[in-house]
Amino acid sequence: MAAHVVVVGSINADLSVQVSRRPAPGETVPGDSALVRPGGKGANQAVAAALLGAQVTMVGAVGDDANATVALEQIDASGLDHTHVRRLPGPTGLAIVVVDEHGENSIIVIPGANLSVDAELVAQNAKTIREAAVVVAQGEIPASGTAQAASLTTGRFILNLAPAISLPTEVIRQADPLVVNEHEAELVLAALRPDRHASTTASHDELARALLETGIPSVVMTLGAQGSLVAEQQTGGVTTVPSATIASVDSTGAGDAFVGALATQLADGQSLVEAARFASRVGAFACTRPGAQDSYPTRNDALPPLND
Ligand code: RIB
Repeated sequence: MAAHVVVVGSINADLSVQVSRRPAPGETVPGDSALVRPGGKGANQAVAAALLGAQVTMVGAVGDDANATVALEQIDASGLDHTHVRRLPGPTGLAIVVVDEHGENSIIVIPGANLSVDAELVAQNAKTIREAAVVVAQGEIPASGTAQAASLTTGRFILNLAPAISLPTEVIRQADPLVVNEHEAELVLAALRPDRHASTTASHDELARALLETGIPSVVMTLGAQGSLVAEQQTGGVTTVPSATIASVDSTGAGDAFVGALATQLADGQSLVEAARFASRVGAFACTRPGAQDSYPTRNDALPPLND
């Protein structure tokens, strides 16, 4: 049986709006379409991993409104274990996702039930988290919930610090890997190394190495169409992972597909570089279809090749 991945994180309904161009302040523009789809960084990562064949358990919460049904659609369909998802009185997390004609998105998140995924709620799932080979967390639930998940982890802890919320240093130093984009990497460095002057000229390689120097065991820095960088204490090296060439329709949740795929591969015993190479192809695939979870590949889908 595949090793067990537990995702502790957010579950949202995404109101996904397609526009030709974004409105300027004070301006009204016509939209092309609007759909409510399943989303949330935690749920996206859990569904991505489950569709790729991992044995996944989701820890999180939805509300008791109509959006809860949409938010749980793919969680249900992907076959992952959602017996640890609480249904609480009040609204489900809601994301307003605006997708432009280039497939780029901007997102506003109203957390709703995700705000209840705190240390206490996470501790109620202590046994499941302790027994996981891989635990995945992000920054869309209260910091106390993510910190509790880290403290209960006995396996490998993947921390996708998106958004880059403030967490105790020891939680960030447990990340193996810490998955961040360039902007999040700068924010984490500023928090861990307040003495360091943010440099506009620092290369991605230098940023990744600076993160390793703070004591984080490994870092994966995602760079969109440029691929990603893998940096590891163990080898001391930084490896470039290319992206795949695709026609992007909607990049919503592509980063989450990347993290879900990474978790699947690490739970399977792959090296971090091999896992990132596979994840890069999965993330690229997710850009070729609209939505987040609705765009994710299964094990049977052909993934685009990397630009090696
Ligand atoms: O990463 C994409 C996700 O961010 C969306 O699905 C939305 O729910 C927000 O959480």
